[in-house]
Amino acid sequence: MKNIAVIMAMDSEAAPLLNKLEINHKIAGKIDEHLPMKVYKTKYHGHNISIVTSGECKRNKVQNVGTAPAVISTLTAIKDFKADFIINAGTAGGFKKRGADIGKVYTVDTTVFHDRRIPIPGYQEYGTYRSEHKIATDYAKALNIETAIISTGDSLDMSPEDEKLIESNLALLKDMEAAAIAWVTDQYSIPTLFLKSVTDIVDGEHPTEEEFFANLKLASENLGEKLIELIEKI
Ligand code: ADE
Repeated sequence: MKNIAVIMAMDSEAAPLLNKLEINHKIAGKIDEHLPMKVYKTKYHGHNISIVTSGECKRNKVQNVGTAPAVISTLTAIKDFKADFIINAGTAGGFKKRGADIGKVYTVDTTVFHDRRIPIPGYQEYGTYRSEHKIATDYAKALNIETAIISTGDSLDMSPEDEKLIESNLALLKDMEAAAIAWVTDQYSIPTLFLKSVTDIVDGEHPTEEEFFANLKLASENLGEKLIELIEKI
C-alpha cells in the first residue's frame, strides 16, 4: 500500500481521471484556506490516492499553470498527505522531429529546465537542473509506451534562447511543471513518475495555443486511461 499523490496543473487535465475513479469534481477539498489548489482523495487498487490540481488564479480567473503552484502542490502532497510515490500527470508540447504525435502518452526519464539561464560557474547546472528518473523505463514497458526527455519553462511559447537549450538537451517534450516538481521530490528522494500526453506539436505549422485547446480533451482522455493503468501496476 502506497500513498500516491497525482500532481496535475489544470482541472480539465484531471477530469477524465476523476471520472474513471468515480470522484465528484464538485467535492474538492482545499490544501489551505489561502491557496487555490484542489484535492481529491480516494482509494484505488489498495493505494491511498491524493489528486492535487493547481486550481484557479484568484486574480485572473484562469488555471494556475506553471512551476510555482506545482511546487506548492508537491510539497503539500509530501508533508501533509505523506506521499511516498509522486505522479506528475499532464499535457505537454511535443517535437515531431523526435517522434511526438498528438495524444501520444510518454513516461519521462529526464527532466530539465530551459528558462533558468544563469551563466555563472556552478549556477548553470543548478539552473538547468537536469535530473534522471530511472523508474520511467520499467513503467513505460509495463504501459507499452515510450520514454522521453522533457524540458520545462514557465512560458507556453518558445523564445530562441529556450529553443537552443531544448535542442541541446534533445528534449522530445516541453511543459510548464515537470522539472520544478522533480526539484522538490529530489530534496526528499521520493520516487517520481512523469506521465505526459501531447496536445500540440511545437515544431509544427499550427499556433501552439490553438492546437493546445483543440487537443486538450483528447490528450487528457488518453492521459486518464494510462494513469489508471499505471496505478494498477504500482
Ligand atoms: N503544455 C502543453 N503544451 C505545451 C507547450 N507547447 N509548452 C509548454 N507547456 C505545454
